[in-house]
Amino acid sequence: MEAKIIKAENFRNIESATVEFSSGVNLLYGNNAQGKTNLLEAVCFFSLGKSFRGAKEGEFIRFDSKNASLSLDFSDSVREQNIKIDFFRDKLRHVEQNGVKISRMSEMIGAFRAVLFCPEHLNIIKEGPSMRRGYLDVAISQLRPLYLRSLQRYNHILAQRNKLIKNAAVDRRSFDATVEFWSQQLAHEAASITRSRLKYLAMVEQELKECFAEMTGDREIPSLEYDFSFKIDRSTAEDVKKCEEVFLSRLMSSHEREIAAGATLWGIHKDDVDIRLNGKSARLYASQGQQRSLALGLKLSESRISMRDTGEEPVLLLDDVFSELDATRREYLTERMKRGQVIMTACGDVDLGTSVNVINVEKGKYLPCGK
Ligand SMILES: Nc1ncnc2c1ncn2[C@@H]1O[C@H](COP(=O)(O)OP(=O)(O)OP(=O)(O)O)[C@@H](O)[C@H]1O
Ligand SMILES: [Mg+2]
Repeated sequence: MEAKIIKAENFRNIESATVEFSSGVNLLYGNNAQGKTNLLEAVCFFSLGKSFRGAKEGEFIRFDSKNASLSLDFSDSVREQNIKIDFFRDKLRHVEQNGVKISRMSEMIGAFRAVLFCPEHLNIIKEGPSMRRGYLDVAISQLRPLYLRSLQRYNHILAQRNKLIKNAAVDRRSFDATVEFWSQQLAHEAASITRSRLKYLAMVEQELKECFAEMTGDREIPSLEYDFSFKIDRSTAEDVKKCEEVFLSRLMSSHEREIAAGATLWGIHKDDVDIRLNGKSARLYASQGQQRSLALGLKLSESRISMRDTGEEPVLLLDDVFSELDATRREYLTERMKRGQVIMTACGDVDLGTSVNVINVEKGKYLPCGK
């Protein structure tokens, strides 16, 4: 997979830019606040369908402009494609893939496959469960667009069910009449999402173990375990029908607790992943360096799985990570970077030891070095 040309107009601090990427390593280089991450955010948008910084789309539009636009030419071994997106302040974005309008963002997810790694990904290890669920959801959605649809349906049903629970105090009748319907719907989506997550997690664990064996010379052994929010054993959870039944009975047996809490207390929106190093919780016991290795390992595992699944190396997007890694990890990452296209940002000197397409970034302008 390769990003060829990105065009940006009135996007963040970019008035107008056309940037050509080469097939190896591309380095966006420049001082602070010049627009390095802005361009990476733009490229990444085509893969995630949202900002990796969690920004709202309105924030993309350049101060004092009415709208912004992005266009990306990219290719895999089969074909060349283009996606164009217009963002407006006062109405919904407009997206075209290969000249054809698409109405839902989820339709474009999976076309341009990239894996992003930025310093905040340390939070996958350090912070609460939502970061770990997010890691799984983003990674699986890239490969399985149906997973994303299922997730969207789940969230929609969850919102309805939560509304019903909140209203139960004033309207117990509607609650009693419809709670089973919403619970069934929720359990149905949850079961297929659970199976996808379990399958994906098993693949990540295998990749991560290999990655650690290479990075640490077998001294540190990571393990990953899915942590369910309700009681179910793994083999039951892997069976979609049984998982649905167990989850439904959980949802139907504690109404008073849910009404008291005002929300749905169990489900895939509450699950977690237990990340361990040599059998000990990484969140609680791993050193800063070990946590960094785990975060990097998880991201590289994601790219390996994508490669195995699609036969194409996804584009690796690295924001500000190189300087943060120590020599061993840097060496390891540099080795992995040789496999496909990389777009990375840095403001200090980086020695990559390979040929690099350096793009100088200054005040929202992008100038290839030597041109
Ligand atoms: N909507 C917007 N309109 C205009 N400028 C914006 C907008 N959003 C962000 N900016 C500007 O973009 C600049 C930041 O760009 P960016 O995050 O890409 O910096 P960077 O080159 O990655 O810097 P660093 O090295 O500090 O990470 C800021 O000066 C910010 O004010
Ligand atoms: Mg930056």
